[in-house]
Amino acid sequence: MTVPNDTPTDNQSAHPRQSTCYNSKYLAEYYDLWIGNWDDIQLYSRLLADMVSRNTSANPVRVLDVGTGSGRIIHGLASAQHQKQGTKRQSAVHFLGLDNEQHMLDRAHLLTDAAHVDQMTWVLGSAEEMGSLPALQHSDGSGGLIDMIVFACGSICHLYEADQGSRFFEQIAKVLKPATGRAYISVLKALTDGGEPLARAMEPSEPVVTPSKEFPGIFYKETWPAHELIGKVWHTTRHIVVSERLADGQEVVVEDNLDSRKVGVWTEADVRARAAAAGLKVVDILDHQNDSTHGERMFVLGTLA
Ligand SMILES: C[S@@+](CC[C@H](N)C(=O)[O-])C[C@H]1O[C@@H](n2cnc3c(N)ncnc32)[C@H](O)[C@@H]1O
Repeated sequence: MTVPNDTPTDNQSAHPRQSTCYNSKYLAEYYDLWIGNWDDIQLYSRLLADMVSRNTSANPVRVLDVGTGSGRIIHGLASAQHQKQGTKRQSAVHFLGLDNEQHMLDRAHLLTDAAHVDQMTWVLGSAEEMGSLPALQHSDGSGGLIDMIVFACGSICHLYEADQGSRFFEQIAKVLKPATGRAYISVLKALTDGGEPLARAMEPSEPVVTPSKEFPGIFYKETWPAHELIGKVWHTTRHIVVSERLADGQEVVVEDNLDSRKVGVWTEADVRARAAAAGLKVVDILDHQNDSTHGERMFVLGTLA
């Protein structure tokens, strides 16, 4: 398949480009429209407030949001903290948003409230190499810098190969502060033990059309041409066509995205095994319901020592 560049000409837009669902400014906006008002900020905000209240060091609590996307979690947490405490304790927390997709980070920048800019660092990189990223290490290159790691919204499903998962847990063990640090790893209930009926229910049965809020005349049309569970991996294809409605009523395709992706099923046993192998322990499991369809199970990890 030909893979056109990021800003297709009219000619290129006639052919689907291989996409990751996140790799254009339109897809970054579409993600936000798709996720809507996912109801997890209050939970993370409460967990962060507990951590801040326990912090006895002079340093801020450092929060790492892995797969931060457009920064939904970090922006939500910073606003909640601002509402509770005003500007006086803003320096109590520093947020690091990590993503391997620059378009998502560009949107995270764009959506950053001027009042919170100094509290946030956006980092391009992979969850599988966190321990070697300078922004996530002490200035002398040692680990154990991060107080709170969040991998929200079931995003661990992106790590669908066994060794990807193992590498990610090893990286958590490197960057997480020993003893007091906590990592919150969300797994969608639809993608954990026995979740096949729910996962199928999440698959749209007919095209979903969503108007852009940001780009005048743009609308998104999504279909799922394929969705199949093979072993513990969903083989899914999302087709997201970005079109523009012109002043004369004509519709032109601006970007034709075909995302053939693999999505991993993570069971409690998988999390426990990867955690133990990396020298981490599961200290708690929180069940959280975002809406009628999207429940998640949050594994709370700490270091063994
Ligand atoms: C489902 S979105 C979640 C975005 C945001 N955390 C939220 O809760 O709304 C998953 C994000 O993870 C990112 N991602 C996927 N694999 C990654 C990896 N290996 N390392 C870093 N980020 C990754 C994607 O680019 C995407 O922005």
